[in-house]
Amino acid sequence: MRRTINDITNEIFKGFLESIERNDGLCPVKGLRYDGMRLPDYTDLMVQQLYLLRYFPAYLVEYFDIYRDILKNKRFKKSFRVLSVGCGCGLDYYALELALQKKGTTCAETVYYTGVDKIEWAYSNDFGNEDFKILLCDFIGIGDVNKIQDKAFDIIIFPKSIGEFSDSDFKSLIKQFKNSTFPKKEIYIISSIRKEYTAIDQDRMANLLICLENEHGYDSNKPKTEYIYYKNSAGLRKDFYDFVYPDEIFYFLNKLDSKCPTQLRNKQFCESDCQQNLNNKRPILKNDHIRYQYFRLKK
Ligand SMILES: C[S@@+](CC[C@H](N)C(=O)[O-])C[C@H]1O[C@@H](n2cnc3c(N)ncnc32)[C@H](O)[C@@H]1O
Repeated sequence: MRRTINDITNEIFKGFLESIERNDGLCPVKGLRYDGMRLPDYTDLMVQQLYLLRYFPAYLVEYFDIYRDILKNKRFKKSFRVLSVGCGCGLDYYALELALQKKGTTCAETVYYTGVDKIEWAYSNDFGNEDFKILLCDFIGIGDVNKIQDKAFDIIIFPKSIGEFSDSDFKSLIKQFKNSTFPKKEIYIISSIRKEYTAIDQDRMANLLICLENEHGYDSNKPKTEYIYYKNSAGLRKDFYDFVYPDEIFYFLNKLDSKCPTQLRNKQFCESDCQQNLNNKRPILKNDHIRYQYFRLKK
């Protein structure tokens, strides 16, 4: 994990520095914020880069935690199929690779991974797996969920994405699940939920579970809003010793406002919100962002 974090953050940081130079400013990344139900413009490469510098290592740990737990189930000794809805760059796939490596195998050996995202993200990695695919399309309208790649999925994961569908899209998503075929006797449904909007994300998962129970005969067998989190706030390194965020990048992001080329040149910011909205982009180093739900559904 330490190497993955180091390699990916350094690669993205290099790209981020190039983007700053190309843009001659940091204006686009001011919009990387979630307050007041805002969503960032992920189509902007610079926004993606800062998003990943900020969240990639922490989410990697979280998704690793989830997959490590699920992979304890003996059925995952054989090959299995994963659908990641709103996969971004496939961050959860990186974590799946690490979790499988811990078990002495790899994604290339065992996983059919299909990610779906309506936005093209940089920095995906197939880890040499020819059965890794990211479909660049809106999940709404994709049709029968279990026919996306002809065969049904064993794991369906929403990695920090279930709450980012608009209300009307989420209604359509439920209809889509209702009208899909679910031939597997057992499936896992996972959602990594957003700290700021935990209640919304929990509620959406509950709706999805109700649909799967009522329409497809599954039983989730635990409270539908239950989620896993760390009760005591602590640095991620406490539980994940290999979580090491590169110092140089941390210090750069810690005072991002002072790195804006326009500000450095003019000795002043262009807009009144620059300082505040550049100064809140530090990487996530604590466990408070770890919040997830997973359900083993059987019928
Ligand atoms: C917060 S990002 C999470 C990205 C990635 N899973 C991660 O863990 O970093 C939410 C993602 O959901 C995607 N998304 C939202 N609505 C979507 C839709 N209707 N169809 C496909 N992807 C969607 C967005 O494009 C975005 O990439």
